[in-house]
Amino acid sequence: GLPSRVTIWEVGARDGLQNESVVVPVSVKLEFLARLASAGLSVLEATSFVHPKWVPQLADAAELLAGLDRRAGVVYPVLVPNERGLDRALEAGVSHIAIFASATETFAARNLNRTLESQFEMFEPVVARALAAGVSVRGYVSMCFGDPWEGAVPQSQVVAVGERLLGMGCSQLSLGDTIGVATPGQVEALLAGFSDVSRLAVHFHDTYGQALSNTLAALRCGVTTVDSSAGGLGGCPYAESATGNLATEDLVWMLDGLGVETGVDLDALVATSVWMAEQLGRPSPSRVVRALSK
Ligand code: HMG
Ligand code: MG
Repeated sequence: GLPSRVTIWEVGARDGLQNESVVVPVSVKLEFLARLASAGLSVLEATSFVHPKWVPQLADAAELLAGLDRRAGVVYPVLVPNERGLDRALEAGVSHIAIFASATETFAARNLNRTLESQFEMFEPVVARALAAGVSVRGYVSMCFGDPWEGAVPQSQVVAVGERLLGMGCSQLSLGDTIGVATPGQVEALLAGFSDVSRLAVHFHDTYGQALSNTLAALRCGVTTVDSSAGGLGGCPYAESATGNLATEDLVWMLDGLGVETGVDLDALVATSVWMAEQLGRPSPSRVVRALSK
């Protein structure tokens, strides 16, 4: 069966924008977030407190949060890799953070400048201090289905990384198909490897056009939180061949059709993505945005 309601974890302002080479003004990012909230999205991943040289697009994280008009009923999680990032995030008054781990050795090195093992040493004090400060922590696992340098990733390795993040105190685990290579059978197999599906979320990139099929497979396995990006923006600057995330509009079209509640006003969301595409100077890759904005 399917859940009656799905929580959409909207990553457009973070995952969507982090790969854009031209820096988007803070005022545009703030309007993007305001429009997403008005469209009914209740989880807006806003930015990352990472090293500004590693992701120049998000170097304005503190300024963004200072200017944010926080809506009632909306949470604004931010990515935090290490204690320096946590200090900055706490200073900005965040209530939700996400750490991001790699399931592979190569991506741990490329994305975090750490080994697979030493990434956990980096995360442990972050999670402990965040929880002590009353801040909730999500854990991401990247390269869950394939890695551009290592190829296929053993399921047991993904589960081991994920269980360690949960063991540290993460309240939710988001399983990332960073390069968009998964197919639904693999999704079902990976989800079955975890003891508690209720704490899992899925994060699909749409490189091979499989994100929506993979999402449906995950929903049928009991997942109720799905990550997506308005207009299908996105990609990871440290992962070869990572393209846009599952488009939130594509997800909402499917869920509306299935009678699954999301609380999202699709027309308002499409208008937001059309507006954002104008800011970025190129059309949205989302099929639903294109179909509804003709
Ligand atoms: P490092 O070079 O090993 O850092 O980078 P370090 O700990 O050695 O520190 C070096 C200097 O950087 C120090 O300054 C630190 O203070 C400073 P110095 O003493 O030399 O003057 N520094 C910082 N400054 C500001 N904010 C910070 C920070 N940390 C250190 N947070 C680090 C390690 C983790 C920082 C770096 O590798 C990094 O920032 N990586 C982030 C990469 C990233 O953001 N990738 C994209 C997000 S992940 C993703 O997209 C996947 C996802 O969507 C899921 C999926 O699709 O699979 C989540
Ligand atoms: Mg991603």
